[in-house]
Amino acid sequence: MTKTIGIFVGSLRKGSYSRIIAQEMAKQFPAGYEAKFIEIGDLPLYNQDFDDLNEVPAQYPKFRDEVKAIDAALFVTPEYNRSVPAVLKNALDVASRPYGANVWDGKPAAVVSVSIGAISGFGANQHLRQALVFLNMPTLQQPEAYIGNVTNFIDEDKGEVNNQGTKDFLKSIDEAFVKLIDRY
Ligand code: FNR
Repeated sequence: MTKTIGIFVGSLRKGSYSRIIAQEMAKQFPAGYEAKFIEIGDLPLYNQDFDDLNEVPAQYPKFRDEVKAIDAALFVTPEYNRSVPAVLKNALDVASRPYGANVWDGKPAAVVSVSIGAISGFGANQHLRQALVFLNMPTLQQPEAYIGNVTNFIDEDKGEVNNQGTKDFLKSIDEAFVKLIDRY
């Protein structure tokens, strides 16, 4: 049976480099796995009162159902101020609640950080992993994926990766991730 890998991009920017990297990864999964982009930009900021009063915004149940339906989660994210962009952290929080109904629970995950700089989003990558521990998501440890100096490897006009080494590296992450997914 085909397994669905949800892809979550930590940037809402139209020309997002992270999304370009994610699109390349989506193309390269082996047969038997389908990639599904799950959008996080329209989720209202999490407020616990929504759940406590049972008055959640309409976007929440839809998003929680989408997360529930996937077999695994791939996070491709930039780094904002050495950490995870708020929009992605918000999405993690929304689908982790109400208490006891964390729909991320047990789903294998992989993290790819993307940066225009040389430090390659290390802070975002590691901070995201910290949250995934608490969400109980078994996360791909190796190879790690830090895509630094990303503008050297993409064609911004076409919106695609134009470097074979980068394509091959992203494929190797996909392949390692799929092996992890198959263990669960
Ligand atoms: C950044 N950027 C950035 N880059 C980085 O390597 N480390 C960082 O801590 C930050 N901090 C940061 C904060 C904020 C608020 C913004 C808007 C940007 C730069 C970032 O790498 C760059 O804008 C990327 O292009 C963002 O990724 P997308 O949108 O292209 O996917």
